[in-house]
Amino acid sequence: MKAVVCTTYGSAEGLQLQSITKPTPKENEVLIKIQATTVTAGDVFVRKLTLPLYVFLWPLARFAFGIKNLRKSILGHEFSGEIEAAGSAVKDFAPGDHVFGTTTGLNQGSYAEYICVPADGVLAPKPSNMTFIQAAAVPVGGLTALTFLKKANIQAGQKVLIYGASGSVGTYAVQIAKHFGAVVSGVCSTTNLELVESIGADHVIDYTQTDFTQGEAIYDVIFDAVGKISSAQAKGVLKPNGKYLTIKSVIKEKREELFELQQLAESGQLTAVIDRTYPLEGIAEAHRYVEKGHKKGNLVIDLFKLSKTSEVSQGVTEKTSEV
Ligand SMILES: NC(=O)c1ccc[n+]([C@@H]2O[C@H](COP(=O)([O-])OP(=O)(O)OC[C@H]3O[C@@H](n4cnc5c(N)ncnc54)[C@H](OP(=O)(O)O)[C@@H]3O)[C@@H](O)[C@H]2O)c1
Repeated sequence: MKAVVCTTYGSAEGLQLQSITKPTPKENEVLIKIQATTVTAGDVFVRKLTLPLYVFLWPLARFAFGIKNLRKSILGHEFSGEIEAAGSAVKDFAPGDHVFGTTTGLNQGSYAEYICVPADGVLAPKPSNMTFIQAAAVPVGGLTALTFLKKANIQAGQKVLIYGASGSVGTYAVQIAKHFGAVVSGVCSTTNLELVESIGADHVIDYTQTDFTQGEAIYDVIFDAVGKISSAQAKGVLKPNGKYLTIKSVIKEKREELFELQQLAESGQLTAVIDRTYPLEGIAEAHRYVEKGHKKGNLVIDLFKLSKTSEVSQGVTEKTSEV
């Protein structure tokens, strides 16, 4: 199978498309033919874990991801795809099922044509109203937003400010806060005001024009979804018992919350904002784009583009993989 392998920390040029052995599922695993994956800000962070960029985090992060070289040489944190085979002990999924999920804790990421994942891992049926492209972009940003916002125990009518509302986590946070009944203010730049309004924000604040910490509005919850503001900045516009949440703390992904996201999507309360898509061969360019820090929502890698290319070169008739 084709996969993008990256063994050394550093520039995007280290991401190399290679042919490697297709994995075989263990008895509790499913083999998934990946249709789409994404390049997240986290993928770029891990690939670039070189000095002096992250000098304070470096020792801890290198311990987690590999001291000298990347321990997990195939990056990629989320995917959508179709189950091709299931181990003998798998009860919940069967070949032909369309699924989406994350690769957290696995020794292979999703920049590949196939992956084996435990059937009881962070894996759920793909939302039936989403394409593979859309569904691949939901797990990481969606789970992160849902986990943080649940911590705030939002009550209907509360005022919630999402700082960095145009990124992956931010676009899901706006929609999930609305689902909890909040009155949502989204902070983003001028070019993204329309986008943030379109996903449900009641108010938008252009951070290039207005400093929200100097405004008159006072919030019940402030969620910094891009890690750019401090608790001290937030404190001035938080109610006395208000809550400040920052993306800088680590979350634990929960399988049942992926099922919640599936239901939110199917009930029309959650959409995936897709900035652009690239084929697997374009992954270095995709990394360079995400690295700039200005993507709108998500950047998706379309694996079907890869299989289409190889099928056409073999003279096989093209077929559509999207539902
Ligand atoms: N804690 C966890 O478990 C966890 C999980 C997932 C992600 N993360 C981290 O969370 C952060 C956000 O992830 P992401 O995928 O949502 O990022 P992202 O999509 O790459 O964020 C890009 C967005 O942030 C906006 N932005 C950039 N600078 C801004 C500023 N100063 N003020 C307001 N908005 C700004 C950009 O819009 P403009 O350019 O128009 O401003 C762009 O739309 C990353 O650091 C990621 O590593 C943490």
